[in-house]
Amino acid sequence: MQNFKKITAEKLQNALKEVYQLENSIEELVEALEYPPDETMGDVAFPCFRYAKALRMAPPKIAASLAEVMSGEEYTSIAAAGGYVNFKISPAYLEKSVLTAVETQKERYGSSEMGKGKTVVLDYSSPNTSKPFHIGHLGTTVIGHCLKLLHQFVGYDCVGVNHLGDWGTQNGKQIVAFRKWGNKEYVEEKGCDGLVELYVKFHEEAEKDPSLNDQARAEFRKLEDHDPENIALWKWFLDISFKEYEVTYKQLGITFDSYKGESFYSDKMDAQIQIMREKGLLKLDDGASIVDLSEYNMPPCLILKKDGSSLYPSRDIAAAVYRKNTYDFEKCIYVTSSAQSLHFAQWFKVLELMGYDWSDKLVHVPYGTVSIGGEKLATRTGNVVLLKELFRQAIEKVTEIMNEKNPDLPNKEATAEAVGVGAIVFNYLYNSRIKDINFTIESALSFDGSTGPYAQYTYARTCSILEKAGQTPTVSGTGITAEEEAAVLKVLAKFPERVLQAIEESEPCVIARYVIELCTAFNRFYKACPILSAEDADVRAFRLRITSAVNTVLASALHLICMKTPEKI
Ligand code: ARG
Repeated sequence: MQNFKKITAEKLQNALKEVYQLENSIEELVEALEYPPDETMGDVAFPCFRYAKALRMAPPKIAASLAEVMSGEEYTSIAAAGGYVNFKISPAYLEKSVLTAVETQKERYGSSEMGKGKTVVLDYSSPNTSKPFHIGHLGTTVIGHCLKLLHQFVGYDCVGVNHLGDWGTQNGKQIVAFRKWGNKEYVEEKGCDGLVELYVKFHEEAEKDPSLNDQARAEFRKLEDHDPENIALWKWFLDISFKEYEVTYKQLGITFDSYKGESFYSDKMDAQIQIMREKGLLKLDDGASIVDLSEYNMPPCLILKKDGSSLYPSRDIAAAVYRKNTYDFEKCIYVTSSAQSLHFAQWFKVLELMGYDWSDKLVHVPYGTVSIGGEKLATRTGNVVLLKELFRQAIEKVTEIMNEKNPDLPNKEATAEAVGVGAIVFNYLYNSRIKDINFTIESALSFDGSTGPYAQYTYARTCSILEKAGQTPTVSGTGITAEEEAAVLKVLAKFPERVLQAIEESEPCVIARYVIELCTAFNRFYKACPILSAEDADVRAFRLRITSAVNTVLASALHLICMKTPEKI
């Protein structure tokens, strides 16, 4: 509806000037235009309350006099109601502006060149190695990838970085545990789960014998000093972790442009620490080096441990500088749970104090924490649901339904995976990002209502109609003859602005909700209006054009939220 809003804003600009000698920019008028909650009132509405004070006039009066002087072939009606001017879009305009736009731009419809020549770095997924993916990782992985796809769609060059948590005391713990209780063949066979067993065992034993923690710290220190044996073991842990991550990323259809994790920055910190020293930012606190942030109402940012080894924030600082130098980004986005909000606020501040004037280009995108039974997730205590297990159950459930409803479906295995994994992803992205989630397997696997399977099924329905119709219709058709047709076109018209809104708010749920809105409008149209069996050839052709446009836009929208689009389900 962006074009419609723009045209309307231009006319409003003239009317406001003509009637009231008021000057307004097009941008502010576009911004002010609303979608009325009840569509029978109008497709967009202009609230006049903002002028009441200056004009000393009641808003309904202002609305009435504006409506009186406005007209145009784009509208079927322009009417004042209360303090609003309501505009109804004309079917002919809708058809021309929307259907033609989708038909000519195809899968580029809704995209733009807004970000041309600019780079966005996105840091997401970034698991701590030696631990399998669990539901807590789903958010960063799919939100991050979705934001990457959205930015690409509007023309940015994007660099997806998996900032692996592959460096820290936990690696020291793994090394100690493996040497004490590990068995190579066993770990090879069990993968990440085998490594977790060792990790859990370490913590149990360390309860009884706290000196194990000192040993772990010492082993990590040796790793930082490039001890060859520790490095070899660490690399092997990494390989084991990777094998498992790759399976999950493949199921999700996600790839990264860089896997430079925390270890990569182990030799890049000194230069930054030097700058902090020169600027007088570092303070000693019980042997550790910190940056005092009390002036900014934050606890101190820890830079170096007592034994001189690096910490999570210092590695993030080195990574940000490296990325700025390497990619000269316009924006660097970090997607993590809101539990890390303070961490990011702290080191963003340290970068600013170090004099990096680009520190305001760093953006933390937090999402709500996930809990199970009201308890925090913890690999250590086993309060987790593994992602591979969740995907397996979803795929199994989809397979059962398919065996019952469509046993001869070709390519059944791949389809069941696309729908099963898609169900979990959609279920997650449909919620507002920041909302905390108390996870239950029942709701994750519920396929009723506004779900991934519903959306994918609607897409497959459009494919099947188009397939039965043969080639894409070339005749222009009758134009709109039913209200349900117009309703679909109106939803299609909203796609470009929903893309921009999703980017502006870093909010994939805007797209997920749009997908449902489009599916609902299409299914209503499908029930009310015969398509293939329409008697009039022109009506049939026009309805096929609508179906084809929905097919195109639904595919784009689903791909933007990491969903696959099987043509047959
Ligand atoms: N590895 C961290 C974790 O699992 C997330 C890393 C996020 N990215 C960053 N640059 N700090 O919690």
